Amino acid sequence: MRKKIIAGNWKMNKSFQEGLDLSSEIINMVRDEVHTATQVVLCPPFTHLNAVAGLIGNAVNMSTGAQNCYTETSGAYTGEVSAAILKSVGCSYIIVGHSERRQYFAEKNATLAKKTDAVLANGMNPIYCCGETLDERNSEKHFEVIKSQVSEGLFHLSGEAFGNVVIAYEPVWAIGTGVTASTAQAQEVHAFIRGLVSEKYGIEVANNLTIQYGGSVKPDNAVELFSQPDIDGGLIGGAALQSRSFVDIVKAMN
Ligand code: PGA
Repeated sequence: MRKKIIAGNWKMNKSFQEGLDLSSEIINMVRDEVHTATQVVLCPPFTHLNAVAGLIGNAVNMSTGAQNCYTETSGAYTGEVSAAILKSVGCSYIIVGHSERRQYFAEKNATLAKKTDAVLANGMNPIYCCGETLDERNSEKHFEVIKSQVSEGLFHLSGEAFGNVVIAYEPVWAIGTGVTASTAQAQEVHAFIRGLVSEKYGIEVANNLTIQYGGSVKPDNAVELFSQPDIDGGLIGGAALQSRSFVDIVKAMN
């Protein structure tokens, strides 16, 4: 049985104290209201990670994730944070290749392959993001784009290492826009990704892969999205900044 994972990607939001307050609310609500094995991952800014991990403590099925990391382990890379350092503050997951990293920081699949390696080498799980732009979808290039993002970023891995990878499908046109992919559009791409993984690593690895959907997930569209056979969780942006909407999305995952 593959894991169901809901991750809140806070992006560059919340002061330190606001982040602690939000985390405490979410932790309490998850404890009181969530009675499934769904994994809940909080991905605040780097500066908050250690404290949020401390608040989570031993809370069941909860952990922290970072939004990015650098490819190297340590050294003279002013301003960067390595996977090893993130591990040392309790991270379990690291988001790799979010479309905002690809768009604003020119991150390419080859670099993302190295970041994925760094995350895995430190015993954490990469949440590897892929997704097409609106132009790419309109010109029906989305399958091609996703295939190259997934294969160039991940298919150098052994089957065993790949077992620790989570993929997030996030159509760029649905992120922060209020427009979600229809359930049929999302399911179609998720099934396509699982098919690619099956061709490369076999059916068992493919069946164990958690594929999250991201892009304007809200409590009122989450149930339908998560009812799809190949949608195993969500990577949540805007709706993760408020405890009630985030926990309602967690509860939609069953
Ligand atoms: P959104 O962001 O939920 O605000 O659309 C999702 C993401 O970028 O991960």
